[in-house]
Amino acid sequence: MSLRHLLFNHIFISFCIIYFTTSRHYVSAKTQKCRLNSQKQAVFQHPVINSTTTGTNAPPSTTTSHSTVTSMASSTGSPTPTAIPNFAYGVDKIRGVNLGGWLVLEPWITPSVFESTGNDQIVDEFTMGQLLDTATAQAILKQHWDTWITEDDFVQIAAAGLNHVRIPIGYWSIPLTSSGTSTSTSPAPYTPGAWPYLLRALTWARNHGISVIVDLHGAPGSQNGYDNSGQRTSNPVWGVTPDNITRTVDTLRFMAKEIGDQVSVIELLNEGAGFRGNDWATAIRGFFGNAYEAVREAAGDEVKVMIGDAFLGVNSWTNFLTPPNGHDAMMDFHEYQIFSDLELNRTFDQHIDFACTYTQTLGSYESTSLWTVVGEWSNALTDCAQWLNGRGIGARWDATWFPGPNSQFHGSCNGFTGNWENWTDDYKDMLRKYWEVQVEVGETVQGWVFWTWKAENADEWSYQKGLEGGWIPMDPTDRKFPNICA
Ligand SMILES: *[C@@H]1O[C@H](CO)[C@@H](O)[C@H](O)[C@H]1NC(C)=O
Ligand SMILES: *[C@@H]1O[C@H](CO)[C@@H](O)[C@H](O)[C@H]1NC(C)=O
Ligand SMILES: *[C@@H]1O[C@H](CO)[C@@H](O)[C@H](O)[C@H]1NC(C)=O
Ligand SMILES: *[C@@H]1O[C@H](CO)[C@@H](O)[C@H](O)[C@H]1NC(C)=O
Repeated sequence: MSLRHLLFNHIFISFCIIYFTTSRHYVSAKTQKCRLNSQKQAVFQHPVINSTTTGTNAPPSTTTSHSTVTSMASSTGSPTPTAIPNFAYGVDKIRGVNLGGWLVLEPWITPSVFESTGNDQIVDEFTMGQLLDTATAQAILKQHWDTWITEDDFVQIAAAGLNHVRIPIGYWSIPLTSSGTSTSTSPAPYTPGAWPYLLRALTWARNHGISVIVDLHGAPGSQNGYDNSGQRTSNPVWGVTPDNITRTVDTLRFMAKEIGDQVSVIELLNEGAGFRGNDWATAIRGFFGNAYEAVREAAGDEVKVMIGDAFLGVNSWTNFLTPPNGHDAMMDFHEYQIFSDLELNRTFDQHIDFACTYTQTLGSYESTSLWTVVGEWSNALTDCAQWLNGRGIGARWDATWFPGPNSQFHGSCNGFTGNWENWTDDYKDMLRKYWEVQVEVGETVQGWVFWTWKAENADEWSYQKGLEGGWIPMDPTDRKFPNICA
């Protein structure tokens, strides 16, 4: 770890202790064979979807359907249609988008969903379940699951030359049963029901040649306290509650059994808060080891297993899960430069230069340890997107985030977020260059997954709007700014 990293982490840790309740991310310093086997008789099965149907988006079947599985296997019993697209890991570059704010809500991605509750105390999926009656919460969520991502999105994603999606899901959506764990299986206060939507999305992905990284984004007790873990809290407890960690391992085992032959990558946990202290860092490390074993036992050797750096820097994970302790493991690194004044102080050129430093950091880590993917990054140069820091919370950029004497004003948010219609050409050029540099960095290792495919009211975060507005090219290998880091 470089001195700069240490210094940054130090600042970052103090910063987190003060403000850990509010931010999505702080850090920058910071073919599967088909195995249709007997394990797949459990509660939920693939929904029956007519993939040639367009224009309608019938809700996925939530019923058990052995017939689907049976009909998918040929008469000789050899596995066929559930095989996922072949992707040449280690040769081809992962180019993907996150399906953010779909199966795990985030207020800033879909403010309208939160506004529709009529209750501004509802700041995440946890409080939505707590403060709404069950029928209302179910109706709101179902409407959202049915419409936010449809098969047409997979058509557009494939047309944009992308080969992966990363799909966040919360533990409360994964129908772990008591036969699979000694811990609680209650989703309360969350509203379950997203699982069949995930299963249907796997069918869509397969239909359109897209590989899937399924990502456990919310763990019991919350692994980081961010709203995107399901629960915005200053006191996440996952890392210090062994029962919650056990439940997480059991949930991953269940998921691996159910869909391990339909996804390319299972990501064990998104953004565990390793910065909260040694107890958390140690818990995350132990959890990754146990969850890795559980996934391998349940799903075999084909599926890739992804860990994250837990905000500790990739160099904290040198030789972790490398042979003989593991195989086909991958590292997910997230890069944002907007969640502190320190980072917002950077000029545009400094943001570009800073991004380039990761070619070295990630490249050298990968050469000794695991395949590395930049699994979250965006075009955002400010934290201006409405509610990015949490529902009801402003931005650091324009000093509306905890306004006060110590709050630094970097500039007005006008023209940086919202609808791109009136953005300047200069700004769109910056977004293009920032996109290109991060793609360049990601492709020095195994590739990249942009955060995020869609956002209601923050076009700088939207891959779809970038394609529409022209600051993201329709062919992800096109360059206006070749070899920025060279
Ligand atoms: C699927 O939908 C297409 C188009 O609507 C229809 O022609 C076809 O018969 C359907 N197949 C099944 C199995 O329902
Ligand atoms: C987390 O663990 C505690 C302690 O065993 C337990 O009471 C609680 O129900 C668990 N939370 C979840 C969401 O499983
Ligand atoms: C950002 O820049 C301002 C103005 O130069 C300076 O006062 C402030 O200390 C800087 N903030 C950080 C966190 O470096
Ligand atoms: C763009 O600017 C025009 C003229 O100022 C304004 O009427 C329109 O509402 C703006 N559009 C957006 C999306 O902000």
